[in-house]
Amino acid sequence: MRISVVGGGYVGLVSAACFSELGHTVDLIEIDPAKVEAINQGGSPIYEKGLDEILKEHVGRDLKATPTYESIEHSQVALICVGTPQGKGGEADLSMIGSAAKSIGLALQNCHDYHVVAVKSTVPPGTTENLVKPTVLKYSGIFQEIGFVMNPEFLREGLAVQDFMNPDRIVVGSSDKKAGDVFAGVYGGLDAPVIRTSLTAAEMIKYASNAFLATKISFSNEIGNICKRLGIDVYEVMKGVGLDHRINPYFLNAGAGFGGSCFPKDLSALGHLAREVGEDPMLLNAVMEINERQPMRIIELLEKRIGDLAGKRVAVLGLAFKNDTDDARESRSIPVIAELKKRGATVKAYDPKANSSMSRIFPEIDYFSSAAEALDGADACLVMTEWPQFGRLCTEFDLMKKRVIIDARRILSCKDAEGICW
Ligand code: UGA
Repeated sequence: MRISVVGGGYVGLVSAACFSELGHTVDLIEIDPAKVEAINQGGSPIYEKGLDEILKEHVGRDLKATPTYESIEHSQVALICVGTPQGKGGEADLSMIGSAAKSIGLALQNCHDYHVVAVKSTVPPGTTENLVKPTVLKYSGIFQEIGFVMNPEFLREGLAVQDFMNPDRIVVGSSDKKAGDVFAGVYGGLDAPVIRTSLTAAEMIKYASNAFLATKISFSNEIGNICKRLGIDVYEVMKGVGLDHRINPYFLNAGAGFGGSCFPKDLSALGHLAREVGEDPMLLNAVMEINERQPMRIIELLEKRIGDLAGKRVAVLGLAFKNDTDDARESRSIPVIAELKKRGATVKAYDPKANSSMSRIFPEIDYFSSAAEALDGADACLVMTEWPQFGRLCTEFDLMKKRVIIDARRILSCKDAEGICW
């Protein structure tokens, strides 16, 4: 099939690359000329495991990036993968969805072959039916030959290529049977159950999935906070809990809480949507509140150990919102660093990949190119990201004035680190 993917962010780029790997011919439409150039030279503008290899193999053959919408006319499927950032009132900002739909409509004006327009971006229920469909139809002027699909993504950053190629399920919400049948062909070759739904159910599946995963994390953190007071190791507890097949062991890791470009914004958008329709989202509110308070518990622990933070040098190891990514969006290190600064501490930061992302948020703190350099002369250390290599740190902590180590991710193997929930 020939597929046009609109938006070269992490979902669009990974999807475009993986569709080419599945044997399709793919045009990736991206307005940022620097990204277009980087991709067409076979390099990924973001760090994502396995992506560079796929780009190197397919760019110039069956995958190309372009700043224009011309390819849409020749493709059978156009997939919208643009961002839906958090708006001022917590809602999903759909302006990029609207302009992508308009550009797709205009590009389809002279096309009379059957075409499917699919939304992969995370959007509130009703967006495909009430925004994308009328906008595409208004600007294309054709009505019979376009079908609409909503196909949510479940890719984790850092594991996105692996997740794309090995999905637990593929959700295809469609306006009608033909649109869903044609679209399902884009995933030909993958071994996964395909769930066919309405457009709105597909949109809601995505929000509900992220909300449930975030709830598991906040639940574990709440249990973990109680465990900490009682001197119990929450990881032992959650191991026992997670082995119940009705619960499962994943996403029960207590610690600093969740960050990233998805959970915080999607929970906020779902909460906003709930209030709009007259529901009070009590559980969602609690999930978000627990997540906001969790980083402050790290500061409280630190203060208990070293007293007033003014003038203290604190090494912060881990700036990315999780391991295997250079993405620091909504990282739990952000509120921690902000609080350290507010209390007059000097921050010595290190991350294997996210120093430069974090330096855009906090240009004024010191960044180091190794954990040892950040630890040298520090009064205390906070481990904020679950990078596996941090687990091997041990003698490096001897470079500190005193070994005051707080592990917010249960990643260290050295015995004298204090855990946030254990
Ligand atoms: C998340 C979902 O896991 C994906 O299924 C979804 O497609 C994606 O959002 C999205 O909507 O695009 P992602 O944000 O990449 O993926 O990262 P996760 O691996 O889910 O981790 C999110 C945060 O939760 C991280 O800060 C991580 O440290 C934290 N976390 C995760 C915990 O604190 N405990 C856990 O047990 C698991």
